[in-house]
Amino acid sequence: MLNYPKSFLIMSSRRKFLQSSVLGSAAIVTDKNVLTTPALVPPVFDQPIVVSTWDFGKTANAEAWKILSANGRALDAVEAGVKVPEADPTNQTIGLGGLPDRDGHVTLDACIMDEFYNCGSVMALEHIVHAISVARLVMEKTPHIVLAGDGALQFALANGFKKENLLTPASEKAWKEWLKTSKYEPMMNIENKLFDKEHDPMPGGPGNHDTIGMLAMDARGNLSGACTTSGMAFKMHGRVGDSPIIGAGLYVDNEIGAATSSGVGEEVIRIVGSHLVVELMRRGYTPEKACKEAVERIVKRGPEKSEKIQVGFVALNKKGQFGAYALQKGFTISVKSAKEEKIYAAKSIY
Ligand code: GLY
Repeated sequence: MLNYPKSFLIMSSRRKFLQSSVLGSAAIVTDKNVLTTPALVPPVFDQPIVVSTWDFGKTANAEAWKILSANGRALDAVEAGVKVPEADPTNQTIGLGGLPDRDGHVTLDACIMDEFYNCGSVMALEHIVHAISVARLVMEKTPHIVLAGDGALQFALANGFKKENLLTPASEKAWKEWLKTSKYEPMMNIENKLFDKEHDPMPGGPGNHDTIGMLAMDARGNLSGACTTSGMAFKMHGRVGDSPIIGAGLYVDNEIGAATSSGVGEEVIRIVGSHLVVELMRRGYTPEKACKEAVERIVKRGPEKSEKIQVGFVALNKKGQFGAYALQKGFTISVKSAKEEKIYAAKSIY
C-alpha cells in the first residue's frame, strides 16, 4: 500500500472545503431508513471519501475505508473494497456465486482506473473470484487495457490466481429454474420476478440490482474507481456489459471527477455513460445533475424501453461532492467519509 507523506496531509487539511450550512439538513430520513440527496446543493465533505453502488456497497466501503483512513491510495482502496462482494457467495450479481449465463458459465466483467488515466479491464473471465485484481494486473503488468475470455483466464493463472468453481448451488438452482422456460429477455435483474415496479418487495435487494461500482478520493485528493459484476443473469455466452468498458461502466478524470454505473449495460454503453457524466461535471454540473442528464439521454433514446429497465449512475467530483440518479426508484448508493457512513436513495425518473 502506498502511503502519502505527512507534509502532503498538512497541505490537504489547509484545503478543507467550507461546510455548507445546508449540510446539516442535507439528509432526510425516510421510512425505509435510507437518505435522500438534495437536488440542487449536494453535501460537501472533506476528503477522503468512498462511494459505491447499492446497499451492499456499505461493507465494501468499510474495507476501502481501512486504506483511505490510513492515508493509502484510492486505487488500493477501491480494489480492496470491491473484493468484498466479489468473495461473497450470497451476492448473486458479482464474483463468486454470480448468476451464470444461459449455458451455465459464470463469466465476470471488471475494470479499474487510477488518477493517471491508467486503466485495466477483463471481460467474460471465468473461474477467478477476484476479477478486479486481474484487471489491475492487466493495467500494471501488460501494455494492454483489456483481456477477454480464455486469454484473461490464462493471464490470471500465469500470475498465480487460483482456478475455482464460481457457480454456487444457489446460483445453479436459479439457472436450472430459468432453463425450464429459457425465456431470453436481455433485461437486467430488474426483470426477474423478484422485481415488480408497483410492489417492489425489496428495493435495492436481489431483484433490483447488479454490479458494484466504487469511486474513492484519497487524502491526497486523488481519484480512482473500480467496477465488477457477473453481469446480466442468463445472458448469452460471451455477452459483455458496460462494467468492464472504460467510459461506459466507469470513468475517472483526476482533474474533474469519477463516475460509475449499474443496470442494463447495453443502454449505458450506447451513451458511454460514465464518461458522459464526467464530461458534464467538467462543464460545471453537480454530480447529481450530471447523473440525471445521463439517465435522461437513455430515456430520450427509448422512453418505452426505459420504463422497464434499471440504470443508475453515481458520481464523485474533485471537491468530494457526490450524487446519483436512476431510471427507477430503488437505486441506492453507499457513502463513507470521516463524517458519515450512510446509504442514500437516488432520485429517479420513474
Ligand atoms: N451493468 C452490468 C451489466 O450490464 O452487465
